[in-house]
Amino acid sequence: MSFAKRIETLKNQIESAQATTAEEAEEFRIKYLGSKGVFKSLFVDFKQVTSEEKRLFGKTLNLLKTKAESKVSQWKAELNTHQKPDANVDLTRPGMLNEPGAKHPISIIKDEIIDIFHAIGFSVAEGPEIEDDWHNFSALNFPPEHPARDMQDTFFIKDPNGGEDFVLRTHTSSVQVRTMETQKPPIRIIAPGRVFRNEAVSARSHCIFHQIEGLYIDKGVTFADMKQTLEYFANAFFGKSKIRLRPSYFPFTEPSAEMDVYWGLENELDHRITKGTGWLEVMGCGMVDPAVLESCGIDSETYSGFAFGMGLERSAMQRFQIPDIRMIFENDTRFLKQFQSVI
Ligand code: PHE
Repeated sequence: MSFAKRIETLKNQIESAQATTAEEAEEFRIKYLGSKGVFKSLFVDFKQVTSEEKRLFGKTLNLLKTKAESKVSQWKAELNTHQKPDANVDLTRPGMLNEPGAKHPISIIKDEIIDIFHAIGFSVAEGPEIEDDWHNFSALNFPPEHPARDMQDTFFIKDPNGGEDFVLRTHTSSVQVRTMETQKPPIRIIAPGRVFRNEAVSARSHCIFHQIEGLYIDKGVTFADMKQTLEYFANAFFGKSKIRLRPSYFPFTEPSAEMDVYWGLENELDHRITKGTGWLEVMGCGMVDPAVLESCGIDSETYSGFAFGMGLERSAMQRFQIPDIRMIFENDTRFLKQFQSVI
């Protein structure tokens, strides 16, 4: 093939060459511009051509080589995205901080209590926040005229079709009923959840708050079992070993009690937390009333059990020195961020 013909062919090849991948571009580079490539051999042969041909083809050859080289660099820039910084990105800007999330203070307390009871065989149960009268009141032995059913305390949800009204559950005791209706003893559950009461919102109380309910039903469960369990809890959760049970009243437990832990009176904070008594009110509790067991289809001659229920807000406020209960519900990130380190 004459030198003129070879240059003519090369010109056509280079002009029509296309690369759609970085690999194809590299193949082209090796084939034409590599150390054993087409240009290399042409330049070697060029030395042997006549001076007339040198004059004719020298410039064309050089131009073709430059063209081939610029094609390769253009393809590589377009096709190899790893090597192509976006002109609109300022690589000198500081990176965006990827802040870790934080557990909500209520979740921290809740998970801790779940762990404590999990260790002694309790599992978590749940129920709906919108409840019917049966699960929130009737099955729990609330007489029809009980003041807790009154508009003062309960948020009612009217059925527009005149059917049964629903309520926002006023306590997690409704989950006791749901569990006993669906599970056979032995039952060992704790039920954390949101509850609602129609109360004025202030720094100390809110119409929404959280409770954890506990329920243990089996053959031969006694008041002493309850006391032991609550002592274990007080130790694990507060690090306090002394508790007391004061007589109290709930329609669904008999006998009923309030459990206090002995907090101590060593410093000013202890005085404030315990209102100068040294004792901290922690929860309501009692032996499940036989009438409640029967309402839920459990034979009260064979089985007995205890239940307890405690609020979480007060513990969270104490633990983290939160001065106003409303902060717990506002979800202000400046507040929530502070718990990043707590988990
Ligand atoms: N449900 C009661 C309350 O909200 C607490 C409680 C639960 C008391 C279980 C006794 C047994 O105050």
